[in-house]
Amino acid sequence: MMRSDPRALQLNEQGQLKHFLTLDGLSKEILTEILDRAESFLSMGEQSVKKVPLLRGKTVVNLFFENSTRTRTTFELAAKRLSADVINLNIATSATSKGESLLDTLQNLEAMQSDMFVVRHQDSGAPHFIAEHCAPNVAIINAGDGRHAHPTQAMLDMLTIRRNKGQFEGLKVAIVGDILHSRVARSELHALKTLGVEEVRLVGPKTLVPEFFRDMGANICHDLRAGLEDVDVVVMLRLQKERMAGALLPSESEFYRLYGLTEESLSWAKPDAIVMHPGPINRGVEISSEVADGDQAVILDQVTNGIAVRMAVMSMAMSGQVQAQQVAGEED
Ligand code: NCD
Repeated sequence: MMRSDPRALQLNEQGQLKHFLTLDGLSKEILTEILDRAESFLSMGEQSVKKVPLLRGKTVVNLFFENSTRTRTTFELAAKRLSADVINLNIATSATSKGESLLDTLQNLEAMQSDMFVVRHQDSGAPHFIAEHCAPNVAIINAGDGRHAHPTQAMLDMLTIRRNKGQFEGLKVAIVGDILHSRVARSELHALKTLGVEEVRLVGPKTLVPEFFRDMGANICHDLRAGLEDVDVVVMLRLQKERMAGALLPSESEFYRLYGLTEESLSWAKPDAIVMHPGPINRGVEISSEVADGDQAVILDQVTNGIAVRMAVMSMAMSGQVQAQQVAGEED
């Protein structure tokens, strides 16, 4: 079967988002629009009434085939703050575990007049597959697929960087740890390059930082000290053991000794460098408690920013869908 290009599939005829599958191919203008919109929702979060009616009357289904707490909860809060009705489908207890195929499950959800699916799946490409096969008026938001992409996580990280550093130009960013298995690193690289940072450095052992990332515009560094030198932003990643096939590491304590972010190794970065982590954090494996709880960490701000970014993406995709349906209606 010929598959459509997800970069084209996610835009309507006017070039607006109607799904949110990948950051690959999205323009700086769209990424900046997401950040600006999220910024306006953030100031709303500080008010006592936190709701806007942008998704009133719409039904959002959280379809999580892989475990998640932070991402699922912040998507749910985002949808509720947009006034949508939200359903959380726990796949472990749903009909797919009784042998129903994914497409049959989707058709049933469509028949319940859902307007948006937020999809997390262990297989790369699953949200794209769903976008191709479900009814054309349903917006699909990728909440993380295999090791392919996690576009809302990357955008909430971009918002966190912009709020702390003011702009992207001239910044040096290090992403440290298990790059090979990380959908966050892949989406982040697209976002950082598109938004115009000076340098993205991927730092970690040879087994976890493959050379092909150079073709995507990153610099690669296998030494933590050299990798952190002069950077403005440090993004630490978890060892994603559930995605590791063989033994790629000598041991966790060896990894921590060589690549762990401690007060000492953080001192190799710029003095005002911020420390980010998508979570879940593993204290004493990739990051020390002192750093995770320290003044330079913005890890909990990332979570707050995630609600605003998810509100921005959901509202943009919904209005892009409505426009696409209007154009289709006029052509009929
Ligand atoms: C990330 C994910 O699921 O890809 N976490 C998240 O979304 N908060 C990173 C990870 O699992 O390590």
